[in-house]
Parts: sequence; structure tokens; C-alpha cells
Amino acid sequence: MTIASTDNWLQVAAAAQATLSPEIVEALARARADEHPDSHLISILHLVQGRFGFLSADRLDAVAQLLGMPTAAVTGVATFYHFFRLLPLGKYRISVCLGTACYVKGASEIADRLRQELGVDFGETSGDGLFTLEGARCLGTCGLAPVVMVGDEVHAKMTPDQIPAMLESYRRKP
Ligand code: FES
Repeated sequence: MTIASTDNWLQVAAAAQATLSPEIVEALARARADEHPDSHLISILHLVQGRFGFLSADRLDAVAQLLGMPTAAVTGVATFYHFFRLLPLGKYRISVCLGTACYVKGASEIADRLRQELGVDFGETSGDGLFTLEGARCLGTCGLAPVVMVGDEVHAKMTPDQIPAMLESYRRKP
């Protein structure tokens, strides 16, 4: 028995469609018509993340329902690839540069201090929902190394001891 043949399929499909956007529902319908719907899963997940910012459990379930795949399989793909985000972004994205120029000037100590102050690892958002910590390869401002970006603001020649005050300045922003 396929998912589409269950008695409540129309309700299940309607609920799944309401969780997503019309263009994603259309993309899922096209994928479902393909011989291998699962081959479209990653591109569909990119669409969902692009539209909603992250992959919530209810949207992963909706994708699974409309693609005719087990939710566990969809969730497995979403958790396997680091570029998929399962939690919402914080108000501020903190990118700590781990490129060569920054690394030789102490970027790993800065990263450690950020992890410690925020209580998160890379890819995670602080408990207050304010900060999402990310690593970056090179932010293109090597002359200012080591560099941390918060949103679109560059913080140059950072030291670990400057991290608490930097975070506090964003906490105080209206
Ligand atoms: S290596 Fe950090 S800005 Fe280039």
C-alpha cells in the first residue's frame, strides 16, 4: 500500500501543502511524477531552507509525505549534510574566519572563546536566540586578521578577550 492510497491521504496532503509554499508544492509534484522522486530530495530541501531559513520537523515531514518517502529517510539526508539547518538562525550570524591569515593570528582561540561565551558549537544558535555561530574560510579582509563578522559588520584584529564586550554590544542593541 502506498502512502497516497491511505484513507486520509487528501487531508494529509492538504496539511503538508499548507506547511510549505506553492512553488515548493509544485516542485514536489514534479519530483513525484519522476521515475526517481528521491533523486530530487536535496534540491527540494534547498528550496525549503531558502524559503523558510531552516528545515523544521513539520516541513521535513511534509516533504516526505508529498514525495512519498519515509520521514526518517528525509530527516536522515537533512541531518547528514552540514549545509542544511534544522534550527532557526539567530538574530545575528557570527562568522569567525578560520582562513590561513586569521588562523596564524589566533583564530582558533577566538573560536574557542566564542563557543565558550555562547555555549554553542559551529552551526548552532545561542539559547537566547540572538547568535548563530559559523566558521568561514576567508572573509576577504586578510589584512585585518583575525576577523570576526557579525551580520555585515567586520570586527578586525580581534583578541579572545574582546569577545565578551563585542557580544554584549549586540545584546544591547534594540
Ligand atoms: S583568512 Fe581571514 S579574512 Fe582572509
